[in-house]
Parts: sequence; C-alpha cells; structure tokens
Amino acid sequence: QQANVSWQNSRGIDLADPVAVSPLLEAMAAGVRPDALAGPVIGGERKPGDSTLVISPADHSVQVGKVIDASPAQVTEAMARAYAAQPAWDALGIDARAACLERAADLLEQECESLMGLIVAEAGRTIDDALSEVREAVDFCRYYARQGQHSLRGDDHLPGPTGEDNRLSWHGRGVFLCISPWNFPLAIFAGQVVAALVAGNSVVAKPAEQTPLIAARAVDILHRAGVPGDALQLLPGDGATVGGAAVRDPHLAGVVFTGSTDTAKLINRQLAERDGTILPLIAETGGLNVMLVDSTALPEQVVDDVISSAFQSAGQRCSALRVLYLQEDVADNIITMLRGAMAELKLGDPAALSTDIGPVIDLDARQMLERHEQRMQREGKLLASCELDAAHREGNFFAPQVYEIEKLGQLEREVFGPILHVIRYKVADLPRIYDDINASGYGLTLGVHSRIDAFAREVFRATHVGNTYINRNMVGAVPGVNPFGGHGLSGTGPKAGGPNYLLRFATERTRTENV
Ligand code: NAD
Ligand code: ALA
Repeated sequence: QQANVSWQNSRGIDLADPVAVSPLLEAMAAGVRPDALAGPVIGGERKPGDSTLVISPADHSVQVGKVIDASPAQVTEAMARAYAAQPAWDALGIDARAACLERAADLLEQECESLMGLIVAEAGRTIDDALSEVREAVDFCRYYARQGQHSLRGDDHLPGPTGEDNRLSWHGRGVFLCISPWNFPLAIFAGQVVAALVAGNSVVAKPAEQTPLIAARAVDILHRAGVPGDALQLLPGDGATVGGAAVRDPHLAGVVFTGSTDTAKLINRQLAERDGTILPLIAETGGLNVMLVDSTALPEQVVDDVISSAFQSAGQRCSALRVLYLQEDVADNIITMLRGAMAELKLGDPAALSTDIGPVIDLDARQMLERHEQRMQREGKLLASCELDAAHREGNFFAPQVYEIEKLGQLEREVFGPILHVIRYKVADLPRIYDDINASGYGLTLGVHSRIDAFAREVFRATHVGNTYINRNMVGAVPGVNPFGGHGLSGTGPKAGGPNYLLRFATERTRTENV
C-alpha cells in the first residue's frame, strides 16, 4: 500500500457567472475547426494518407474534422520506434518524466476552453461534462507526477547482512499499448497515457474510432510538454485492425484498456495466446450498477442523485446507475417525484449552456437503445420518460426512460445509455438482492441512500463492488479522492487515480552487492 501524496485538484469555472461564461463560449467555438485533421503520429510527425470525415453526434450535417486511420505498416513502425526509444525515456528518471506531466497539466489548463469546444463538438458531451473532463485530465497529470515521484523513485536501500548492499528500483516495462473509449475522450485517454509514461514506458496510444481529434490534441500537448516523439506514438483507427495488430506486435510489453467487457476479454485471450513473455493487462470495463434506497432516505436528495447518476452524460458513463431498488413503502412517492424532475430535463444541443442531456455517441448506440426500449415495452412497465423535440431528431438523440422490472436477472449486461430500471423491494428481500448483485458478475459502482448507518455498512459488506457511494450520486470520481475501478466483469484493477495505479505499469528490480 502506497501512501497518498500532497497535491491539489484543478480549479473549475463558475458556469453560472455570465462574466466568465461569455468569453468561455467564444473560446470554445474557436477550438472547433472543420479542417482539423487527426492521423497517425509516429516519431512526433503526423503521417499523410486518405482521410474520412468526423461528424458531430448532435447533428449529422456538421463536420468536426477529418481523420486518417493508421495502416498495418504504421502499427509496426510505431511499435518498433517506441521500443527503441523506451530505454532512454526510462533512464531520464522519475523527476524529469514527472516534470513533463506537470508541464502538460499547465498546457491543458491554458487550453481548457478550446479543448472543451472540441469535446462538445466531437463527443457530444455537455459543457459541464467537458469542463469536468479537462479538469480530470489535468488532475491525472499532476496526481501521477507526484505519485510517481513518491513511489517510483527507486534505489531504495534495504536492510541486509553486514558487507552487503541491497537496493530495490522501479523501471518501465517497455512499450505500453493504451486503448481508450470515446465516453471520456480526453480524461481517460490522457490518464492511461501519462500513467504509462511516468512509470518509464514508451506508449503507443489507440484512441476510440469516434474521438480521434481530441486524442490528437492531447498527444500534441504532451509532445509540447517535452515527451519525445518516439516515446509517444498515436495510432487512430479501427479497434480490431489497428488495436488488434498492436496487441499482436512482438515489441509489446503491456496493455491498459478501458472499454467494454467483451473487448477486454478478447484482448486478454489474444495476449494469452502470444508466444513468449506473459504480458500484463490492466482492464477497466462496464458495470450493471445499482442504487438501494430505503424508507429513511431523503426523497429530494434521492431524486437529484438518481437523475445525475442515471442520465448525466446521457447515461454513457461506466459508473452510471442502471437499476434503482426502492423500498416498497416509498417507491410510489419517489417515482412521482422522479417523473416531475425528468419533465424539467432539457435535451438537445450540447453546446448550449442550458442543455442537461446531449446526444448518444453514434447511430449504433441509438439503435442498441431502441432495441432495449422495445424489449422493455414487452417485459417491463414504463414509469417515466422525457420528450425529445423534433429539432433534434437529426442527431443521435435518445430521450431518458424509466422502466419497472421484477428482478436484476432480467438484465444480462450493461445497457450503455439513459435507460433506468426500477425494482421494488421489501426488507426481507435484501439477502437475495445482495446475492443477485454479486451473481451479476459486475462490480463497478453502487449507491445507497439511507439515514441508517448500519444499513449502508451492511450493503457495503455484503456486495463486491469497487466504488460504493452513500447518500450522494455515484458518478464523477475525482483523481486522488475517489480512486476508481471495479471487480469481476468490471475490470482487473488497480484503481485509476489511486495510490497503487502506477505500480502495475512498472517492474521491480533488486541489486545485491557484496561490498
Ligand atoms: P469498446 O470496447 O467498443 O472500445 C474501446 C476501445 O477498444 C476503442 O478504442 C476500440 O477501438 C478498441 N477496440 C475494439 N475492439 C478491439 C480489438 N479487437 N482489439 C483492440 N482494441 C479494440 O468500448 P466503447 O464502446 O468505446 O466504450 C464504452 C464501454 O467502456 C462501456 O462498456 C463502458 O462501461 C466502458 N468504460 C469503462 C470505464 C471504466 O473506468 N471502468 C470508463 C469508461 C468506459
Ligand atoms: N470515472 C468516471 C466516473 O466516476 C467514469 O463517472
């Protein structure tokens, strides 16, 4: 167990202050240019090639930029160059590597507004979410820089017999492949990359197909912050072809992956089938996350926290609430209040400050949600829904819905979007509910609303979940404050933004000398 370090989280912007907001909106708009281009960045140089359009998820007629996908030969070249560069990057030492992360944090802060503009345009995130995301990326840089300097300094003197000098040191493993999702296109992309870099690895980054422009901006910032071109390579492109080729490359030393459970399992199998070295996989995946609300909970607070947990970011957070358990004597009241609160939600253009819920990421995501909606219309009971006005039907919008179901077992897997399920329960059902939660195999986040401390402690003890939140919402883990990550089908650990995260990226060596 590593001690936590002293540092400060990044500062926000008051989005209710008109004096701050007007220049913010202007600077955000300036960050979006339809001629923006992302492509393979190898040795610090963007490679040419045929491009395809990047389209806004909020409006299919808006071009956000263009992307050039990496070719198989470029995957090989990037991996080989990263492999050749890693010993020198590792030898620089933790202080020099941490200094690059500190400079990157400063640049991210200086360019916050234009990054927010790009996040809103390319990923369809709301302004509030985009701001949180830049702040999270800044926090990852500063936290891992300090944590690395604390725990990866190396050359620790160990006790031993007289005449013997024993030392323990930490080193990068080699080339780390960082594979990231679209739902946190900056924070998770940057978090993976800077963790691997500060631990002394060189990095090949494979961003999500849907968000290459933000990844290209982040890589540019890291290079400007002093990370050598060959220590950080960017390979946009399809998961199976570009990602798959990198997973099979002989120069690979480890993979950090965030995305769906199915893809994590596939990569795990591919790594196991390789000849040669056994390689580490750090996987952060999905969740079938529940909240338990008993009859002592404060209904207004419950409704606020359910809305943000289930519908913020259009439900496209791995941490999002999927199944709400309501004790039966308060269920009707909370459902009525939830219906009222949902009627106030504003869906629409993510670039408008008044918007609560923007689009889902793409047509596939919308169609998956529509299929689940049809299934729930047969198997569940519609309790509440939001309206989508006709002006937004050209984008990938899906209005939040709430369905009552009988039991958790009706949902085999995570449904990634703004559909919430409600189950009524009696106190006598609780042991079975704990068994159902554990039997789902997932274990990412869990919420409890109760004024009985003993109940909250019982839920925590009885369920195997990575992040439990009591009497608050269950999204928005802050680096260094709420180390984040789950168990079982939800991931391998260690927790991102926690004191033990960096250790899995590094390898230990001891040196014993008879002096
Ligand atoms: P995804 O698994 O489809 O894709 C994630 C990444 O993997 C993308 O970059 C994709 O190109 C790549 N990929 C896909 N197939 C690949 C292959 N065969 N080989 C190598 N790479 C491949 O997931 P997604 O739809 O982009 O993201 C949403 C998922 O991410 C949800 O399940 C969500 O719960 C999860 N998620 C988890 C966390 C967490 O911290 N636990 C955080 C955010 C998102
Ligand atoms: N870390 C993100 C959250 O907590 C996924 O919402």
